[in-house]
Amino acid sequence: MIVNKLIIKNYRNFKEAEAELNNSLNIFIGDNGQGKTNLMESIYIASIGRTFRLNSENELINFFEDKSSVEIHITKNNYNIKIQIILEKNKKKQVFINGVKLDKTSEMIGILNNVIFTPDDMKIIKGSPVERRKFINIDISQIKPKYKYLLNKYKKITTERNMLLKNYYTKYENKDIISIWNDYLVNTGTEISLYRDEYISKLKNTAANIYSSISGNKEKLDIFYLSNIGCITDREEVKKTFYDKINKNFNNEILRGTSLYGPHKDDLIIKINGKECKYFGSQGQQRSAILALKLAEIEIIKEEAGEYPILLLDDVLSELDNKRKSYLIEHIKGIQTIITSTDELELNILTKNFNKKIFNINEGKISSILN
Ligand SMILES: Nc1ncnc2c1ncn2[C@@H]1O[C@H](COP(=O)(O)OP(=O)(O)O)[C@@H](O)[C@H]1O
Ligand SMILES: [Mg+2]
Repeated sequence: MIVNKLIIKNYRNFKEAEAELNNSLNIFIGDNGQGKTNLMESIYIASIGRTFRLNSENELINFFEDKSSVEIHITKNNYNIKIQIILEKNKKKQVFINGVKLDKTSEMIGILNNVIFTPDDMKIIKGSPVERRKFINIDISQIKPKYKYLLNKYKKITTERNMLLKNYYTKYENKDIISIWNDYLVNTGTEISLYRDEYISKLKNTAANIYSSISGNKEKLDIFYLSNIGCITDREEVKKTFYDKINKNFNNEILRGTSLYGPHKDDLIIKINGKECKYFGSQGQQRSAILALKLAEIEIIKEEAGEYPILLLDDVLSELDNKRKSYLIEHIKGIQTIITSTDELELNILTKNFNKKIFNINEGKISSILN
């Protein structure tokens, strides 16, 4: 999968910007605050349909405008596809694929697959379980369209079920209705857990091999799926354990007015040499772990989708030491990569054998540098 061209209008600090990309390496150089992350974000939005930052959709539109658009031309399985996103202030965003409007934004996931690596990704190791769930959710959604559908459905189910639990004693009819919502919760939650279990076992093996090679075979990375339901075996067993949990703890759920069990409470445990990386890993080990996770994501997407995703490296090289930098650069050969950096000289040395295109980003303007 290759991004050939991007055209962005009134997106963040960009007025009108265009870039034709190389199918190997694309380097965007610029000082701080010039629009490098904004550019990455615009490509990410064309892939996932939402930002990886914490802004609302209105904040993506240029401060002085009411409407913004991102247009990305890609080649996928030898087909040319045009992805367009239109953002309008206080309106629902619109997504067009080859000019045809999608009913739901989530339908675009899986068309342009991406793996993004930013300094913020350390939160996958150090942050709360929410960060790790987000990480696996985005990944599985890109390779399994059904998964995204299940997640949306599950979110609606928990919201509805929580309402019933909150008003359990005040609304008499809730006592009859709740068992139907228990079934929904268990059925959809079980499917999500099975998808996660399958994905995490692939991630575990692939990331362990990569980590071992980064550490010169000296250290071992282990990833475990901490399913909130319990051990994931076959579908019927999982359902049974799930029902047991909610039946045993039903009074507590009513007391708290919320669903206490299910995949919305899952986590991932990441260990190095048997010790939990979050608490005991050195900064270097944590960075290697995240690098291994990202490179593993790329391989799994390739295996499942048949084509490499595009790789977005937003200012991460400055975070890695020389050994890890070289490892990363060595392993992106054959994958279309977009790198942003403030340091042109260093990147040029690191990528001296690459076929590449270099651009400057300055105050929201992109210019190509001839090399
Ligand atoms: N909606 C917006 N309209 C105009 N400018 C914006 C908007 N959102 C962010 N910016 C500006 O974008 C700049 C930051 O861009 P960013 O891509 O994060 O920089 P960097 O090159 O350091 O990655 C800041 O100057 C910020 O004020
Ligand atoms: Mg930035």
